[in-house]
Amino acid sequence: MFYSVSRIAAATFSLAAIIVCSPLKSDLSDLSQRANPTFTPGLNKHVFDPPASWASWRVIYHRVVQLNDGTLLSSWENYAPEPPLEAAPIWRSTDGGKTYASFSQVKDQVNGWGMRYQPFLYVLPQPFAGLKAGDLLFAGNSVPSDLSKTKIDVYSSTNSGLTWSFLSSVATGGRASASNGQTPIWEPFLQLYNGQIICFYSDQRDPKHGQKLTHQTTTDLKSWTANVDDVADSNYNARPGMTTVAQIGSGNWIMTYENCGPGNCQVYVKVASNPLIFGTISGYPLQASDGTIPSGSPFVTWVYNGGVNGTLLVNGNSDSYLYTNTQLGVPGTPWKRINAGTDQAYSRCLLGDYDSLIIASAGNLQTGAHANNVTYLIVSLSGLGI
Ligand SMILES: *[C@@H]1O[C@H](CO)[C@@H](O)[C@H](O)[C@H]1NC(C)=O
Ligand SMILES: *[C@@H]1O[C@H](CO)[C@@H](O)[C@H](O)[C@H]1NC(C)=O
Repeated sequence: MFYSVSRIAAATFSLAAIIVCSPLKSDLSDLSQRANPTFTPGLNKHVFDPPASWASWRVIYHRVVQLNDGTLLSSWENYAPEPPLEAAPIWRSTDGGKTYASFSQVKDQVNGWGMRYQPFLYVLPQPFAGLKAGDLLFAGNSVPSDLSKTKIDVYSSTNSGLTWSFLSSVATGGRASASNGQTPIWEPFLQLYNGQIICFYSDQRDPKHGQKLTHQTTTDLKSWTANVDDVADSNYNARPGMTTVAQIGSGNWIMTYENCGPGNCQVYVKVASNPLIFGTISGYPLQASDGTIPSGSPFVTWVYNGGVNGTLLVNGNSDSYLYTNTQLGVPGTPWKRINAGTDQAYSRCLLGDYDSLIIASAGNLQTGAHANNVTYLIVSLSGLGI
């Protein structure tokens, strides 16, 4: 979140309206390769074009996950007129992305504020806390219409996203303003690891840091541990933000984040043996072999393609390219810049399966006549030389 002024102005304006069976390891929790592709390269689609009457950039922050039967579920931030209170849309494709339709919504069931910002979907890779493998978790930032508070709440669905039940609240913060000195929390990212769900998020509540990255964990989806920091810069003005995490075929874990403030939001990378100890690892700035420095709202995933190490894929919103690494993200190893033929977008979600990659976008903070649409492109990884 580096667009403080515009987001707040826009949000205020909207008030009136307002994975591993790898060559290296075979028993890791999240990564499993399908025998056949479940979504088809070549599709370049609009999921949803919001009405021009919607506020601000109308939509942003597209997230997509795949259920075990291949069904795709998407969510994003809507800037629809209120009432009713904003809710996270859930759209569904059961034909590999050829067609999408509105399926359900995650509504705020406990605060009376709405489910407004930064939806995150997670498919459980194994049974957890009374839920089955394949059941869904949702985390989002519940924020009232006057933006006076932020709260990361977690919901579950046991029927493939049709209905949602509130489980627990991870943390509560102050006003949804990305200015230093304000105390909101932002951008939850869930990951199962070793019998715990980790909730990573951005945190402005610590008076020592304009913003830092932190996490809490749960074993029962009811109570959460105290937070442990993943990135907290000694420079108060640094604003590390927007954690995403992926398991690498080696069994290691990668974390990406934007280093905003004096760091101009350059994308940073940490690699660790487990996702609970990123705070003990030094991050390194990602620069492509051709000299390009990606910045802003990164997202990371790992895919099988590309040889014994598979390939790490990262993007930022400073350009439309993908940044790839076939050496497990080890510091000093090369990152290659690849044109995936898609649009530039803020916090663009990457979802790989077999030889296909979904690049899910909801625009790059555009407003006005060319405000954002919710789109995705499905590319062939081997077709990109990955
Ligand atoms: C796999 O990654 C390791 C660690 O960076 C590297 O030493 C090795 O060369 C890589 N293998 C290939 C085939 O690129
Ligand atoms: C979004 O889609 C509409 C058509 O529904 C189009 O007029 C508009 O230009 C699109 N916006 C962008 C940024 O492509």
